[in-house]
Amino acid sequence: MGSRKRHVVIPLTFALIAVLALFLLTVPSKDVNEPPGYTYGIVLDAGSSHTTMYVYKWTVDKQNGTGVVTQHSECSPKGGGISSYAWQPGEAARSLEECLDMAMKDIPRARHHLTPVYLGATAGMRLLNISNPSGSDRILGEVAEKIRSYPFDFQEAVILSGQQEGAYGWVTVNYLMEKFIKYGFIGRWQSANTETIGALDLGGASTQITFVTREAAEDPRNHMTLRLYGQDYKLYTHSFLCYGQGQMLIRLTASLTQFQGYNGTIVHPCYPVGYSVTMKLSDVFDSPCTSAFRPSQPNLDVAVTVVGTGQYELCLRNVTQLFTFDKCPFSRCSFDGTFQPKVKGEFVAFSAFYHAHRFLQRATGIKVTTPSQMDTAVRTLCAMSLSELKSKAPDEIKRLHEYCPSSAVVQILLLRGYSFDNTSFSQVSFESTARGAAVGWALGYMLILSNMVPAESMNLVKAIVPVAWGCLLFLMIALLVVSLGYLLAQAFCEKKTTDDIL
Ligand SMILES: *[C@@H]1O[C@H](CO)[C@@H](O)[C@H](O)[C@H]1NC(C)=O
Ligand SMILES: *[C@@H]1O[C@H](CO)[C@@H](O)[C@H](O)[C@H]1NC(C)=O
Ligand SMILES: *[C@@H]1O[C@H](CO)[C@@H](O)[C@H](O)[C@H]1NC(C)=O
Ligand SMILES: *[C@@H]1O[C@H](CO)[C@@H](O)[C@H](O)[C@H]1NC(C)=O
Ligand SMILES: *[C@@H]1O[C@H](CO)[C@@H](O)[C@H](O)[C@H]1NC(C)=O
Repeated sequence: MGSRKRHVVIPLTFALIAVLALFLLTVPSKDVNEPPGYTYGIVLDAGSSHTTMYVYKWTVDKQNGTGVVTQHSECSPKGGGISSYAWQPGEAARSLEECLDMAMKDIPRARHHLTPVYLGATAGMRLLNISNPSGSDRILGEVAEKIRSYPFDFQEAVILSGQQEGAYGWVTVNYLMEKFIKYGFIGRWQSANTETIGALDLGGASTQITFVTREAAEDPRNHMTLRLYGQDYKLYTHSFLCYGQGQMLIRLTASLTQFQGYNGTIVHPCYPVGYSVTMKLSDVFDSPCTSAFRPSQPNLDVAVTVVGTGQYELCLRNVTQLFTFDKCPFSRCSFDGTFQPKVKGEFVAFSAFYHAHRFLQRATGIKVTTPSQMDTAVRTLCAMSLSELKSKAPDEIKRLHEYCPSSAVVQILLLRGYSFDNTSFSQVSFESTARGAAVGWALGYMLILSNMVPAESMNLVKAIVPVAWGCLLFLMIALLVVSLGYLLAQAFCEKKTTDDIL
């Protein structure tokens, strides 16, 4: 009798342990032990038209392995991009003061010396490094010195390559959308194992397209492999210098000016009826992007008057002429003889893509989700006079004339350049923020440089943990089943023995 009781007690104990363990394994544990202090990082995005400072923060908590990086604050100083101060020594550095002072207040004093600061300059400075290399070096030196004068942990002030800009934007998008790892249902980070999202960035002076591709690398300059969390991502990326929104407007005006004789009144089919502006030829022809249209005997002090005529068809044809579609040394090209595999999967289009898309809907009421809707919306927008536009968006008076040409650029770039079609275009979403952070290259740049997104999976926390949990769960269930089975068998045998005896 005593031994029979033990036969029941031991498996019963195992079963109880298994149930308890299963409960502990599956119920997400709440983090109660730490009200964590934040760690901060600063990125200065020195774009061609303006600078933006982002302050990011994260907690280094054991539970999550690595904290989730979120955007703490954002600051845009007045004035132009740092490259616009080429002829005003000291001004580029001074332009950053306002925001750096704000960061001093935003970040707790005890954290200042632990806060890394990165300044990345993009196509505006790439162009200045072509037209005025000593000016560009001076500006970089002076902004670095300015940042060093603050108590933060200065890291670098550099001009990013187009490839870096594209790849960092892609990292940002996929980090924010949790495509690398995600916070799992059992309360731990796990690898996401999902398709990544492509990144489309339209800046002031350049535009980038970046996505994962399995197609062969026909042009090695467009391919890079990123190793993140122990996984290799084969990226196609290309940056088109001079195809940013601001430079496209300048090139458009330059080509119309050349066509019409650099003189008097220039009719501009992309600007709305009712809009006109008088400017010097140097405003347009100083840029390295317009060298092909420059007058042969340049007197760039000549003033011309540009007058809008609001003609969609002519506008679209003039914009199209800024792209070269007919030469391709590879199996397939986007434009200007640049290799590009077929676009595939989801994309996020941000910065000026987002602003053009948003304004199209605001002004025309058309929600653009297909190529033909885009055509209709851009056509409708370009037919509107300046006074019509003013009544639709009185808060954007300074920029209203730019939306027709910018939208036409977006249309040609996406549909003819990158070849988004009825199917692939429906997978493009236009965003400016995701999970409270601005979508752009800045976050990805900091994540990579500060090793917040490591190449290898973080010492078993992410890759192995879900597997280990799976194994533990399986073991416990097995233990439970075996114990219960044993108990049942026991009960059955006991009954049988009793029956036999009777
Ligand atoms: C861990 O990550 C999750 C998901 O982003 C977040 O909601 C949670 O607050 C984090 N835990 C801690 C302690 O920071
Ligand atoms: C400027 O351009 C030259 C030539 O392409 C390059 O070697 C140099 O690194 C660039 N300067 C900066 C600061 O990136
Ligand atoms: C500008 O126009 C005037 C006459 O209208 C002409 O004499 C002159 O050559 C033109 N200049 C250029 C640069 O085309
Ligand atoms: C570009 O616009 C100008 C001015 O409206 C027009 O005369 C010209 O024909 C256009 N170019 C093309 C290729 O349509
Ligand atoms: C795309 O859709 C439009 C409108 O629905 C249609 O007219 C066009 O033929 C389609 N294009 C292709 C390539 O399927």
